[in-house]
Amino acid sequence: MEQYIIKGGNPLVGEVEIGGAKNAALAILAAAIMTNETVHIENLPDVNDVNVMLEAISGIGAMVQRIDRHTVKINGGTIRDFNIEYDYIKKIRASYYLLGALLGKYRRAEVALPGGCNIGSRPIDQHLKGFRALGADVDIEHGKIVAEAENLRGTHLYFDVVSVGATINVMMAAAMADGLTIMENVAKEPHVVDVANFLNSMGANIRGAGTDVIRIRGVKTLHKSEYSIIPDQIEAGTFMFAAAATKGDVTVMNVIPKHLDATISKLIDMGCEVEEFDDAVRVVSKGRLRSTQVKTLPYPGYPTDMQPQIGVALALAKGTSTITESIFENRFKYLDELARMGAVIKVEGNSATIEGVERFSGARVSAPDLRAGAALCIAGLAADGITIVDDIVYIQRGYERFEEKLRSLGGIIEKVSSEKEIQKFKLKVG
Ligand code: EPZ
Repeated sequence: MEQYIIKGGNPLVGEVEIGGAKNAALAILAAAIMTNETVHIENLPDVNDVNVMLEAISGIGAMVQRIDRHTVKINGGTIRDFNIEYDYIKKIRASYYLLGALLGKYRRAEVALPGGCNIGSRPIDQHLKGFRALGADVDIEHGKIVAEAENLRGTHLYFDVVSVGATINVMMAAAMADGLTIMENVAKEPHVVDVANFLNSMGANIRGAGTDVIRIRGVKTLHKSEYSIIPDQIEAGTFMFAAAATKGDVTVMNVIPKHLDATISKLIDMGCEVEEFDDAVRVVSKGRLRSTQVKTLPYPGYPTDMQPQIGVALALAKGTSTITESIFENRFKYLDELARMGAVIKVEGNSATIEGVERFSGARVSAPDLRAGAALCIAGLAADGITIVDDIVYIQRGYERFEEKLRSLGGIIEKVSSEKEIQKFKLKVG
């Protein structure tokens, strides 16, 4: 099992290139099969989740041609199977985006029910509510969602919960329904907008993505497109908090600063200097960070995917901070790992109270999920001594060349997979 081994204490300094947004890419790859013409997608992040999604698409018969690490051509004209096996869903929940894509294009789809995951139960009732509102029959049979429709017709839908996945999934099906669909109480994340822009580049007619109401006039066919995925604001925010926690000076390149507003606002609250450029943001952290309060909310609020990262930084800040996690019911597990490095935290329900400490001491910790794993690496980079992070397969799902990018900023971190390599690292770093 691969691990990261880290020697803490070096401030992170320099520039780091941010890749394409994983959570936009997963949905856009699903939407790409909705045309029988060839779609050319660039700025794809080369991460495990994206590679599994490409396997799922190819698995149902679509043509998938990887041009390079970050570019792919897809043609959905050769799809013969509308059934997404449990194997793919087990690896990545987001393969459920093929439900909306297949239902929209073929009026039929069978996708294994996704399970929960480490951050919560993650129901999909709003997805199914949306498909049914469009006129589809949706049944759960033997662990599978079976959706089919004589015809899909436009509807006026109000989501009970603001859901990124449901907004995107239903938007895809509605893009090829008959007539006008109005969706309210929708998610407004940048990647929702990116999927809408991508569908429109294929000839869809979607207006209002990024606002509270999305209007979709269904079309009969979608056509070819050349598209580039937006930068990943969560990858960017992760490196920004790595700068804050290690008293560094890091510039994240190829980002859309507007997407980082909530993250930038918290970094400034905590005493960092932040400079915004057209497509870059610089974070400088000199003295000890200040405590603050944060509550995760749907965009444009503070992102839940940035909660572990700010948690690590606040655990080193001067004073008492609180984090309220309003999106998922089980996203504080990393705090137990952080306590093993010296953090002082009390969790009650969906709220954590953090008494900042001067320093962490390196320890062996385990990554409970993708973003928490990245946050524990930040803790190791800020800690005294050696930290080993287990279960880094989670991190590799969503961060491309994570340890290489951290090393390029002066972080002392390596991927290891044996006791021998651990000893070698320890001898090397002294
Ligand atoms: C997406 O998950 C992201 N994943 C998550 O990122 C992210 O944390 C989340 O949005 C929130 O921003 C992808 O895009 C692949 P939701 P998603 O539906 O769509 C409840 C990462 O680290 N809900 O917006 O599953 C749900 O339980 C991952 O990259 C329902 O009740 O999130 C949660 O409490 C982790 N019924 C809330 O809504 C539903 O039908 C928000 O979930 C759907 C969701």
